[in-house]
Amino acid sequence: MRTKIVVGNWKMNNSVAESLELATAIAEKVGKGIHCCEVGIAPTFLALHEVGKLIEWSDILLTAQNCHYENDGAFTGEVSASMLAAVGCRYVILGHSERRQFFGDTSAIVNRKVKKALEQGLRVILCVGETLQERESGVTGSVITGQVVEGLDGVADISSLVIAYEPVWAIGTGKTATSAQAEEVHASIRATVAGLYGQTAADHLRIQYGGSVKGSNAAELFAMPNIDGGLIGGASLNADDFMAIVKAAC
Ligand code: PGA
Repeated sequence: MRTKIVVGNWKMNNSVAESLELATAIAEKVGKGIHCCEVGIAPTFLALHEVGKLIEWSDILLTAQNCHYENDGAFTGEVSASMLAAVGCRYVILGHSERRQFFGDTSAIVNRKVKKALEQGLRVILCVGETLQERESGVTGSVITGQVVEGLDGVADISSLVIAYEPVWAIGTGKTATSAQAEEVHASIRATVAGLYGQTAADHLRIQYGGSVKGSNAAELFAMPNIDGGLIGGASLNADDFMAIVKAAC
């Protein structure tokens, strides 16, 4: 039985003060104790340290939105995985489509980041997803398989890894993949992973869905056999909306 995981990706939103306010509201609701799913929040780099201190008492998992593939050095504007681990990050999101689309994160770069983050003891949420054009030209399967295979190249152990399937056409558009469309891709990702790492490792892997998840559609998505939670953008910026999604995972 896989424990579901719901992570709020705040993207480039919220000042430090606003981040602390939102984190406080979520931490009060998540609290501490036994939970039916894992819950994470991913503020900007700037707010990570303070938010981390604030939510330390709770079960919320501090998550970063990106990292660099080297430990340190002359990489202006970047933050390393070891720095994230040092401020208490448990997870890092890598290969988000916005990184791939706007910041040149190729699968080869994402792969270097995945390896570095795992080496530094972080858990990784590896994002994959096809564009609308790719879906319409019938290449969704090969695009996703390629991103999974390239993203995991040289990764020996996937026990600290989560994959997030996020169709690019569904991110921030209000257009969600139907539960059947998402389930089809999730099942194929699990089959790809089974081919690479064996059935047991594939059965243990959590695969989140992301792309316009809301309180109103989360339960149907999370009820699918291969959907193990969600990576939430817009709806994670409001504590009540986010918690409605967390509840749907239980
Ligand atoms: P969205 O974003 O929920 O706003 O569509 C999801 C994501 O990019 O992780």
